[in-house]
Parts: sequence; structure tokens; C-alpha cells
Amino acid sequence: MKLIFATHNLHKIKEIKEIIADSPKYAIVGLNDVGEYSPIEETGLTLVENALIKARFIWDKHGVPCFADDTGLEVEALRGAPGVYSARYAGESSSYQDNVDLLLKNLQGVHNRKARFLTVIALIIEGQKYLFEGEVRGEILLSNNGTGGFGYDPVFRPEGFSQSFAEMTPELKNSISHRGIAIRKLIEFLTARVDSAK
Ligand code: IMP
Repeated sequence: MKLIFATHNLHKIKEIKEIIADSPKYAIVGLNDVGEYSPIEETGLTLVENALIKARFIWDKHGVPCFADDTGLEVEALRGAPGVYSARYAGESSSYQDNVDLLLKNLQGVHNRKARFLTVIALIIEGQKYLFEGEVRGEILLSNNGTGGFGYDPVFRPEGFSQSFAEMTPELKNSISHRGIAIRKLIEFLTARVDSAK
């Protein structure tokens, strides 16, 4: 089954392809692969709204099963910030490092460093929408640790582990991450749907 993943983020596409490597039934293509080069504006106020905006835009144009994810890092001491604004925390064209720097600055001297990543995936298939969620709890480190992954990975240490996401192998991160959990729910749903149609 061909599935369009409504993203230009090559890190996300790589992660999802690694996560579904065991399910060769699905061919995932990104937006560049279907000639969609412009960003889809994320004007929603929640992760769910943004995931649906991206998936709906592609479904309406291409009519091919498609999904989009929206992810936020929610920090308890910052009352859930940066949350839905995680990509632009330090401003519209901020880099991953700009966002991490601002986060560390805003948490300077703060004892409670509890945080969570939340991913929402919106799938649209035959015009129907379905939502899947994945969450991982952890804490924000005092400085960057590791060079793998992307985004806030160097400063996020998941509960029960001594390494940051950026210090983990991709396999380990994918096996416990917010996106890994959400994408496995998506694949289970699709597999059950195909099986019940047999
Ligand atoms: P998006 O809106 O879903 O693209 O994600 C918002 C921002 O969250 C991204 O720009 C990254 O900075 C961050 N982010 C998303 N997923 C991850 C992840 O798996 N690890 C670290 N940061 C992430």
C-alpha cells in the first residue's frame, strides 16, 4: 500500500521507514516524492489540528491514503511550553539549536525538569480520518548530550534510561519514542483493516 507521509522533514521520514522496516506491505513516500515542495502551514492551535490540516490538504489534492504527524515537547515547569510551538520556539526561522538554547535558558536554575514528547498522527483513508497518539516521559538535561537524532533529542532523557535520545542508536530511540509508539498503532490499525477486508 502506498502511503503519503505529509512531511518534508527527512529525519521523520527516515525514522518512520526504520520503524516499519518489518512491514514491507507499506511504501512510505514523503511530500518531495509527490512533487509537493511548499510547506503546509500549521495554523492549528493543537497537535491534533495541525496533524489533520496537513493530512487533509494532501488527501484533498492527491486522493491517496496519507498521514501526517505533529509533535510537541511539553515541559512541566514551563506549563506545557513549547508544545505545539516546538518547531518555532525561538522564532519563525529558528534552528534546532536555537530552540534548544532557548529551552535551556528558560530552565536555568529550575529544579523540576520533567517533560514529555507527544506525537499525534492523523491518517486519512477513503476520506475517513483516524488519530493515533504516542507519548514518552522524561526530563530535560542541563546541556546537550550526544549527536544523533534531531530537534530536542540532545537534551531529552527518557525515563528509565541514562542516555539522551541523541546518544541512543536509532533502533533504541524508535523502540521507545513517541513517534515509534504512534506509528506502530497506525500500522496495527492498517493491518487489522486489511485483514478484516479479506
Ligand atoms: P513538528 O511540528 O511535528 O515537525 O515538530 C516540532 C518540533 O518538535 C520539531 O521541529 C523538532 O524540533 C521537535 N521534534 C519533533 N520530533 C522530535 C523528536 O523525535 N526528537 C526531538 N525533537 C523532535
